[in-house]
Amino acid sequence: MLTTLGLLLSFAVPVLGVYLSISCPGGKQCQRALLSGNDILLHCNSSGARWHYFLAHSWDQPPSKVSGFSNIEITPKGSLIIREPLPSQTGVYCCLNENGTQVVQYEIDFQDVATLHITHTGLGQQPLQNETLYPDGKELIFTRWEPWQDCNRCGGPGERKRLGYCYVGEPLEEPTPCWLYLKEVEVWSSRMRPELQVEACDTPCFDGEPLGVGYITFDDFQLKEESESVWLSCPLASIYRPVIWEADETPLTWQRQLSGRADDTFLDPSTGGRQLQVFQPAVYRCFVQQELMAQFNPRPGPEVLEAQEEESEAQPREAGGGRRRRAHPVLTGLKLALLAGAVLALAGLLLRCRRPSRGSRRDWVVLVK
Ligand SMILES: *[C@@H]1O[C@H](CO)[C@@H](O)[C@H](O)[C@H]1NC(C)=O
Ligand SMILES: *[C@@H]1O[C@H](CO)[C@@H](O)[C@H](O)[C@H]1NC(C)=O
Ligand SMILES: *[C@@H]1O[C@H](CO)[C@@H](O)[C@H](O)[C@H]1NC(C)=O
Repeated sequence: MLTTLGLLLSFAVPVLGVYLSISCPGGKQCQRALLSGNDILLHCNSSGARWHYFLAHSWDQPPSKVSGFSNIEITPKGSLIIREPLPSQTGVYCCLNENGTQVVQYEIDFQDVATLHITHTGLGQQPLQNETLYPDGKELIFTRWEPWQDCNRCGGPGERKRLGYCYVGEPLEEPTPCWLYLKEVEVWSSRMRPELQVEACDTPCFDGEPLGVGYITFDDFQLKEESESVWLSCPLASIYRPVIWEADETPLTWQRQLSGRADDTFLDPSTGGRQLQVFQPAVYRCFVQQELMAQFNPRPGPEVLEAQEEESEAQPREAGGGRRRRAHPVLTGLKLALLAGAVLALAGLLLRCRRPSRGSRRDWVVLVK
């Protein structure tokens, strides 16, 4: 069963990939700003690779091996996976081949997603203004925007987002991501934050075949008694990808949330909406890159169960299945543990890991109780 789901899910992976993959095209040294809290993969094409790092806040220390971090793993093909990177992991990551020669070097600024400044153009909200680093200084703090991501919905109104990273620019110099610029210098400015901008979009649907990745149904989620809410997590979603949630087929938009009209759901900005907190039982569905990824069904209340029993007694079962035709999910009735396990199996399959991965994959845990 587990393997089956692993295999089924693996169809999704060539299309989407589990991690945002960063590579250094043609070059040996690349500088990138990224966000903390969202998994990434640094590409290195060298089997038997070793990775060393220097952290920005301890620049003068000798390089260390990455094995000191529990959220970092080297794939058998030599790439580096960093799960939920911390802002303090901003630094230089070097990939060395088996002979100790440097293959590629990444300077990565993991900007603190907890400080994300989020604005919606449809609500007239303004992104951050440019500011100088020091009063009367020439060093300018500004946001460098990534391209807009695809619309999260097709054939109807949707939303798209883009990420913006904090950079410092000096006249005649190539701008540098803020915390790589500052390194260990202790300067603090409230302007130094990454940004997320959202706007409405409307794109037609592709004519061609859908990606056909299949989806997973989670049955029986329940609100926790203490908080009267539960967190749902959308498989394969990420802040770097278009994601949308629906509650009983009504889209849950950023516009609704950012204008204060959503008191029954909360899209987590720090995961780009991968995580959704819900306060009402309803059928929740999430889409990644316009493909249905998962459906979360609430546990039916006692009165519903009773009604269903009566109905099934009154109406003898028809041969060959249900009265209603429904789209077929990949598998139904899967519980939390199974998904987490399956994703581990999938990750193992994908990375052809010889040993089981250690630690829990927190990003895949769906809080279903
Ligand atoms: C990886 O390296 C091998 C051998 O050097 C080469 O044949 C292959 O094309 C490279 N793959 C990529 C994706 O760069
Ligand atoms: C490593 O060194 C050995 C012996 O000098 C050589 O044969 C091999 O091609 C080198 N490997 C790489 C990846 O450069
Ligand atoms: C902010 O600074 C950047 C980089 O110098 C520049 O491209 C952009 O136009 C500036 N924005 C404003 C509103 O001045």
